[in-house]
Amino acid sequence: MALTPVITAHWDEPDSHTMAGYKRHAGYTGLSAALAKTPDEVIGIVKDSGLRGRGGAGFPTGLKWSFVPQGDGKPHYLVVNADESEPGACKDIPIMLANPHALVEGVLITAYAIRASHAFIYIRGEVPHAIRRVMAAVRDAYAAGYAGKNVLGSGFDIEIVVHSGAGAYICGEETALLDSLEGLRGQPRLKPPFPATAGLYAAPTVINNVETICNIPTIINNGVDWFRSFGTEKSPGFKVFAVSGHVNRPGIYEAPLGITMRELLEHAGGVREGREVKFWLPGGSSVPMLTAEHLDTPLTYEDIAAAGSMLGTGTPMVFDETTSVVRAVTGWLEFYKHESCGKCTPCREGTYWIVDVLKRFRAGKGTPEDLPKLEEICAQIFGRSFCALGDAAATPFPAAMKYFASEFADGTRAAANDLFDPVAATIFSGVAS
Ligand SMILES: Cc1cc2nc3c(=O)[nH]c(=O)nc-3n(C[C@H](O)[C@H](O)[C@H](O)COP(=O)(O)O)c2cc1C
Ligand code: SF4
Repeated sequence: MALTPVITAHWDEPDSHTMAGYKRHAGYTGLSAALAKTPDEVIGIVKDSGLRGRGGAGFPTGLKWSFVPQGDGKPHYLVVNADESEPGACKDIPIMLANPHALVEGVLITAYAIRASHAFIYIRGEVPHAIRRVMAAVRDAYAAGYAGKNVLGSGFDIEIVVHSGAGAYICGEETALLDSLEGLRGQPRLKPPFPATAGLYAAPTVINNVETICNIPTIINNGVDWFRSFGTEKSPGFKVFAVSGHVNRPGIYEAPLGITMRELLEHAGGVREGREVKFWLPGGSSVPMLTAEHLDTPLTYEDIAAAGSMLGTGTPMVFDETTSVVRAVTGWLEFYKHESCGKCTPCREGTYWIVDVLKRFRAGKGTPEDLPKLEEICAQIFGRSFCALGDAAATPFPAAMKYFASEFADGTRAAANDLFDPVAATIFSGVAS
């Protein structure tokens, strides 16, 4: 399947991040088209397009917008989630660097549709270069009359605030992000109420991912049928896939949803040094790993779910046979332990214990009894934590055991032995299954 650059179409032009570069390719014509429609018509178009959120969960965007109560007399807010901190996820930051005006135009159209007069773009604090690019784009949009009072004479008023986070993965969780934006410590809120009815400052709020928002101008400009000509019935459109790991050409590849990982791998130059895929994760460290046998699975929300994983952020990480699964899983768990916000016991204590036991395996001091213990801890975290970070932390170990149980068994014997050991696999196969 061929690549279909849309959001990334002009990234090779040196001024793609500028107003002039963006306007050269129909930039801000989507805004004019949207302002000529009613807000409800815009919501209807996005609903019909079938666009699903690109922040990880794949929730239908138009449906989310339609949950915002209309005529309630309250202020409405739009918040863009640009916190991108998931291990392996690297698409929103490149988008903001190369195409910040697509984000700004998407923000303007979305705010108009949900009848918000304030929009916040919450950007991860460690990427000042992206923050600067987005701030410059917002400034240019104000100067051109696309933002501020009475946009293009339409009567629509919109203020855009670019906010820098302080660098915490949990602040990507939408309600923790809202607390952080309000100046509080970033910890998730109890849901319900959901942000669509009580979000920022307890007012109706839509929270969308950067890539989700960047799709909006293209849909308004080109129409529902065009958007649905890419992808599948349940996963329409195209996706900014960020391929990383042991591939020859890691990078951004924009393709229709439904491209297979094997095809995406070919675009990325294949696995390095002619090696083989050992395992891969379709969308960040929070989704279960898959193996070479899944390379022909279409990258759609439904097909990847049927294969036992999740599309997540659509940022595949590829690992070849030189990789120790034990080491990879331990690394991810150290991340989740570090980033656990501590609000709930299963995640706060559980991530600590998982890392403790996994480190024993890494040191060759794990015992056969440790494996069911790890499975039990993960089971105690999954579904019992306050937010999805807990579920994410409880995912890598059981997923790894499904395909690579023998490597954990091997870790009970040999000090720091990262390699597959068929003898150990036989000895501990009963424990590991
Ligand atoms: C721990 C954690 C971190 C998250 N980080 C991000 C993030 O950096 N960016 C993002 O868009 N969504 C992130 N999400 C998902 C958001 O909570 C939310 O679902 C998303 O921003 C909604 O946007 P969408 O509907 O456009 O996908 C995270 C979720 C969790 C649990
Ligand atoms: S699951 Fe983890 S990150 Fe989420 S609220 Fe509980 S302690 Fe915090």
